[in-house]
Amino acid sequence: MTDPAAPAKTTVELIARAAPPRRAGLDLSDDAIARLVDQFYSDIRDDPRLGPLFESRLAGQWPEHLRRMNQFWRSVLNHSGEYYGQPVVKHNGLPGLEEDDFRIWIGLFEATSARLFAPDVAAAILTIARRIARSLWLARFGTPFNRSPAWLD
Ligand code: HEM
Repeated sequence: MTDPAAPAKTTVELIARAAPPRRAGLDLSDDAIARLVDQFYSDIRDDPRLGPLFESRLAGQWPEHLRRMNQFWRSVLNHSGEYYGQPVVKHNGLPGLEEDDFRIWIGLFEATSARLFAPDVAAAILTIARRIARSLWLARFGTPFNRSPAWLD
């Protein structure tokens, strides 16, 4: 016999939800990222050491490179998922790239982000850029006996 005091049976509903992203993107506008890319590569092209290094590979192909770099930074900063490429292979095959060039790259990137963004946003972007720079540096210059330089920590 059923107990009249027992609560009525309810149906258990299973709701499937997409897992939340591991880490929220910075959610910058596409325009803000475009300004970062434009300004940064303009500074790179003016740099006496990095300018000629980039030019030797990218002469005549800057618009395509900047388009890819917008995709890359939107993917990295906003998790847009639109960049596919092989940065390690590309940088490992770059003639004349030296260890210290990454220090110049980071310095310019830090200056550009500080000019364009609030300090907390600039710091967050720089942490991400440095992490990627470190992995590119290690892929190119790392050996079992060395570690990346302190300015990439
Ligand atoms: C001194 C350091 C660096 C130099 C001289 C350099 C130079 C270059 C050049 C010349 C290319 C074009 C390669 C090609 O199309 O064959 C390239 C591509 C690229 N670089 Fe760098 N780079 C440096 C550091 C970095 C760092 C630190 C990052 C990221 C934080 C980065 C991200 C990329 C990406 C995403 C591409 C596009 C690769 C692809 O085509 O998929 N680079 N870089």
